[in-house]
Amino acid sequence: MYGDYQIELYLGALGGVLPAHPFDYAELERSALAALPPELRTYVAGGAGDEATQRGNAAAFADHGLVPRMFRAQAERDLSVELFGRRLQSPLLLAPVGVLGICTPDQHGDVHGMEAAAATGVPFIGSTLMSDPLEDVAAAAPDAAKWFQLYTPKNRELAASLVSRAEAAGYEAIVITLDTWVPGWRPRDLASGNFPQLRGKCLANYTSDPIFQEMTGPDPDPGTVVMTWVGTFGNPITWDDLPWLRSLTTMPILVKGVCHPDDARRALDEGVDGIYCSNHGGRQANGGGAALDWLPGVVEAVGDRAPIVFDSGVRTGADVVKALAMGATAVAIGRPYVYALALGGVPGAVHQIRSLQAEADLTMAVDGYPTLADLTPDALRRLR
Ligand SMILES: Cc1cc2nc3c(=O)[nH]c(=O)nc-3n(C[C@H](O)[C@H](O)[C@H](O)COP(=O)(O)O)c2cc1C
Repeated sequence: MYGDYQIELYLGALGGVLPAHPFDYAELERSALAALPPELRTYVAGGAGDEATQRGNAAAFADHGLVPRMFRAQAERDLSVELFGRRLQSPLLLAPVGVLGICTPDQHGDVHGMEAAAATGVPFIGSTLMSDPLEDVAAAAPDAAKWFQLYTPKNRELAASLVSRAEAAGYEAIVITLDTWVPGWRPRDLASGNFPQLRGKCLANYTSDPIFQEMTGPDPDPGTVVMTWVGTFGNPITWDDLPWLRSLTTMPILVKGVCHPDDARRALDEGVDGIYCSNHGGRQANGGGAALDWLPGVVEAVGDRAPIVFDSGVRTGADVVKALAMGATAVAIGRPYVYALALGGVPGAVHQIRSLQAEADLTMAVDGYPTLADLTPDALRRLR
């Protein structure tokens, strides 16, 4: 039982060992930002516009309350879920994060994210923007569940190459992110001039790619690499591109950034296998509702046709339970695991993931929802 993590922690304390990593999200964020190099702080913490949407993502969870149910206590809980033919022991994933690679001092953060995923059984979704090639990141945990997130480049051959490399390296699904074909307006980064990719960071999946190498020519200088990347990043995808994207692989495809029921319905009609409801943590467009506000509409449109992954604003195990009760099939963790990895390395990230699993498990236990099937919208009441 994931909740048994607390027994481990209490017993450790009895033996004189207090936990080395934080439990509270605000404290985690504060400490991690202090540990990160200044040029990364705004990039990880910041969002679009005045960040109202970003703050709203996390705040929205407080608008919904889980109703406790009694006489349903069950010592054994089951948080497992089947996703694309693989049974996961918990309904969590690690969201794709494009500068993860440089969030650890050794600049191999993607590898360490994968290691934390392997240690917890939680799938790792590797971003297109890695500091090590996707093959090396996969090799860090050959048996771990892993998906690859595609920022679709303008060069179609490069897109095909990235997808086929991911498949060959053992990634099991492709997440196509739709909301980032152009960077959002991020005042904190604009004010500090922070955009790691323009400094040549996290481009390993490009520089290791044979098609990209053809585009730059042999032995390119750093400026050529960056300008070639600028020239191909960010394909403004429309519905006309979806048949081509679908044709790139027989692996399951999820589309990330879907918040409108009509978009979810049409994407499924056109052959995608999963919907990833997210507003990119409020990093891309300000002025929207919280991603959680859009989830019920997406759930209603999708029905039981396909799994729904949700992220944006998940900070606690109770948040995870609420998103599941609303109808998400699985929940992805973004900044919390990035901060934990930056602050405490793999042990810090493992602690963060185990804490989320434990809190979700114990919340379900105490509130009388012992399995994911028990978590329906009836478990929730709108508070405000
Ligand atoms: C620093 C940072 C980089 C990100 N890079 C990517 C990326 O490369 N690809 C992607 O699809 N989403 C990316 N995201 C968005 C996450 O996948 C996820 O949607 C978001 O972190 C959820 O919001 P939250 O962290 O506030 O919970 C990034 C998020 C952050 C914080």
